[in-house]
Formats: sequence, structure tokens, C-alpha cells
Amino acid sequence: MNLPLDDIWRLGMTTDPDPKSTIAILGCGAQAAVVEELCLACGYSIVAFVVEEGFPRSFALSHDARVIEVGGQICLDPTAIGTSRFALAIGNNDARLRWGERLAHRGFELPALVHPQSFVSPSATLAQGTCIGVGAIVQTCVQIGMAALVNSGAIIEHHGVIGAGSHIAPGAILAGHVNVGRCTLIGAGAVIRDRITVGSGATVGAGAVVTRDVGNGCVVVGVPAKPIIRENEGDDE
Ligand SMILES: CC(C)(COP(=O)(O)OP(=O)(O)OC[C@H]1O[C@@H](n2cnc3c(N)ncnc32)[C@H](O)[C@@H]1OP(=O)(O)O)[C@@H](O)C(=O)NCCC(=O)NCCS
Repeated sequence: MNLPLDDIWRLGMTTDPDPKSTIAILGCGAQAAVVEELCLACGYSIVAFVVEEGFPRSFALSHDARVIEVGGQICLDPTAIGTSRFALAIGNNDARLRWGERLAHRGFELPALVHPQSFVSPSATLAQGTCIGVGAIVQTCVQIGMAALVNSGAIIEHHGVIGAGSHIAPGAILAGHVNVGRCTLIGAGAVIRDRITVGSGATVGAGAVVTRDVGNGCVVVGVPAKPIIRENEGDDE
């Protein structure tokens, strides 16, 4: 299976940036602190953190870059921001993808950020705005969609397909030929058996072992993974 072209869009840059390459980080929370270190490890110079007006700044960022607030309607101006390149640092999958698409439409470059202590196969495809964290392994012929996040130590084995906006959390292991839909969370330490499909908007709980396909929007947990049954779920009024 191949990613739809819409999900790959333009490919992110995977080569090392020039020594003077600048980047702005979209977000100012915990994810931004992680992405800040990723950008620095990749050799970028951070010029600004850009946040939506009123967005809480939960973390004291170590970098002395400016924080620029943008209202929903205000044009993102590369001159005001100081660069035409962005890193996406929003934890929410849908919001990260939405902002990635918005920035790309406005002509911003969203390089794929690949931690130098990760492994990405030369035959893998990384779309714009993807982040590959420290210790992650992205194997042969894997395709990763726009704004997807492969977190620390996650392993995506050969021919895996990760849809746009999805998050593969730390230490998750996806065996060969696994397909993950758009804006899906694969929880920390989860294991997905080979040739399984996990649908769009689904959540796989931390530590789950997935042995059967997971439908769109489903939440599964446990070993073997089963849908969460909530009290009152399915009850009549
Ligand atoms: C699956 C998950 C999304 C469910 O969250 P939630 O909707 O808030 O669910 P709750 O915490 O209310 O738990 C509901 C039930 O499922 C159980 N459960 C939740 N997560 C579980 C997991 N990972 N494994 C096994 N059981 C789990 C709870 O114990 C609870 O059972 P109970 O009703 O018998 O007490 C969440 O627990 C999870 O695992 N998220 C992934 C976190 C992660 O890896 N983040 C990455 C950050 S980098």
C-alpha cells in the first residue's frame, strides 16, 4: 500500500541544513521544548516561537528566541517571523496537521527533522513536517505522511505506512507492512503485529499488543489489544 499523494505532498528535506539555516517553531508547550532540542541537534538556528494568541506557555524555553503571537486571521509573514521555515511542535495530532497544511499553503518550508542519533533508511519517504526523534528506527521503504511524529526509540519496520498527522509514541514497535491511518496515536511501548492496519483517528493504548486490525476512531488497550468498554457505553437513555 502507498500513501495517498495528498499525505506525502511535497517531501521534507532530509539532508543536513546549511550552517546558517534558520527555523521558527510553531508551539510553545512541552512538545516545543522537545522540538527545540531536535532542531538544534539537526543544526538549525531557532529565530522564533510562534503561538496562537492566548495559547498557554507552559514551559520555560531555554532558547532566547522571540515569542510571536498570531491571531487566527493574521497573515503569517516570513519577514516578521525572520524565516520562511517552520518546525511543527503541537502535541494534538489534528491541530498539528491542520497547521502544517496551512503553513505549506502559505509557502513555508517544513523540513523533515531527523535526529542525528536515529536511523532512517535511504529508501524511506518522509513528507513535510515530519519529526523523527532520538533513537527511532525507520526501516526500508517506510512512508511517513505530513506532520507525523515518530517519537524517541520507536521502531517502524520495513514497508510500514504512517498517515499524515499520526504520532508513534516512544518505544512503540510496528512490525513489517503495518498501515497506520491519519491522525492516529500509537501509544508508548505498544507493539503492532506485521501487516496490521490501524485506522485513522484511532488510539492504541500504551503497552498494547495489537494482533487484529483496528477500525477508524477506535481506542484499543491491553494484551492482546481490545476496545475499551466504558461504563454506560451502549446503554439506552
Ligand atoms: C488508551 C488511553 C488513550 C485511554 O485513555 P482514557 O480514555 O483517558 O482512558 P482511562 O484512563 O479513563 O481508562 C479507561 C480504562 O482503560 C484502562 N486503560 C487505559 N489505558 C490503558 C492501557 N494503556 N493499557 C491497559 N488498560 C488501559 C484503564 O485502566 C481503565 O480501566 P477501568 O475502567 O477498568 O478502570 C490512554 O490510557 C493511553 O494509553 N494513552 C497513550 C498515552 C501515550 O502513550 N502517550 C504518548 C505520549 S509521548
